[in-house]
Amino acid sequence: MRDLTGKTAFVTGGASGIGLALGKAFAEAGMKVMLADIEMDALDAAVKGLGNSDVRGVVCDVSNPDSVEGAAKTTFDTFGKVHVVCNNAGVAAGGGIDAISLDSWKWVLDVNLMGVLHGIRSFLPHIRAHGEGGHIVNTASMAGMVSGLGFSPYHASKFAVVTMSEGLAVQLQPLGIGVSVLCPGFVRTRIGESARNRPEQYGAPTTLDPASPAAALVAQIAQLIESGLDPAFVAAQVLNAIRENELYIFTHPEMRAEAEQRFTAILAAMDKAAKR
Ligand SMILES: NC(=O)c1ccc[n+]([C@@H]2O[C@H](COP(=O)([O-])OP(=O)(O)OC[C@H]3O[C@@H](n4cnc5c(N)ncnc54)[C@H](O)[C@@H]3O)[C@@H](O)[C@H]2O)c1
Repeated sequence: MRDLTGKTAFVTGGASGIGLALGKAFAEAGMKVMLADIEMDALDAAVKGLGNSDVRGVVCDVSNPDSVEGAAKTTFDTFGKVHVVCNNAGVAAGGGIDAISLDSWKWVLDVNLMGVLHGIRSFLPHIRAHGEGGHIVNTASMAGMVSGLGFSPYHASKFAVVTMSEGLAVQLQPLGIGVSVLCPGFVRTRIGESARNRPEQYGAPTTLDPASPAAALVAQIAQLIESGLDPAFVAAQVLNAIRENELYIFTHPEMRAEAEQRFTAILAAMDKAAKR
């Protein structure tokens, strides 16, 4: 989508971090914006903070298909057509590969994977029907490109978002609807405090022994996030990718070696198989 002016964007996880930066960048590009988030106070503050009558907010839990459907309806009622959908809300829970509770697995997959699916299911029929073109941006992560220890549900959810986006891009290409998958490394946001929005139904977060390797990993990641990229930079790359219709959005080219290591190991195993 070359021209974004006057178009409408729907952004989940819009009350904080990357989602909020996306909302700001879309508004600055002359778009109408609906920020959707599970945290009502933060959402209200985000909408007020942007101070633009074309930016609105809707409370929405992306893990719940009815809630996403309701948010979509509110957006259609408010702005008419929607062109850009950013399935961006996400949470992280760590705790060591053999110590992550089933509840944590369910929570992370419900938000990070099913949340993306619900967004696609609620908005795609509408975008197809209005025929003006559109673009879907799914937020994955470099954790969807390379594997790591300690945040297994997070990696699993992000790998799934990458493959889902790749498939969707092929499916929608003939319809003139673009798809991008956002794969950042560390970004300065509140993702490390994801438990602030963990619904009761998923139980309490795992309490880590401060002396454990898992706690050390969580602390190390918190530091990397603290010194991570400015979300505004990430948002600018997303706008660029929408305009240029680019599938992969990478913001941390310095992580190339990690991706290369994985792909090289896969290709080496293929070569070995070919020789057998
Ligand atoms: N920060 C990073 O280093 C980083 C790196 C790669 C990918 N990401 C991804 O970026 C996306 C945005 O996260 P962020 O880093 O801006 O974190 P953040 O915590 O600052 O923002 C996430 C937002 O999602 C909302 N949210 C949580 N559960 C929700 C639900 N069930 N329904 C609706 N909204 C919900 C939160 O309230 C919050 O406003 C996530 O998908 C995350 O996995 C972040």
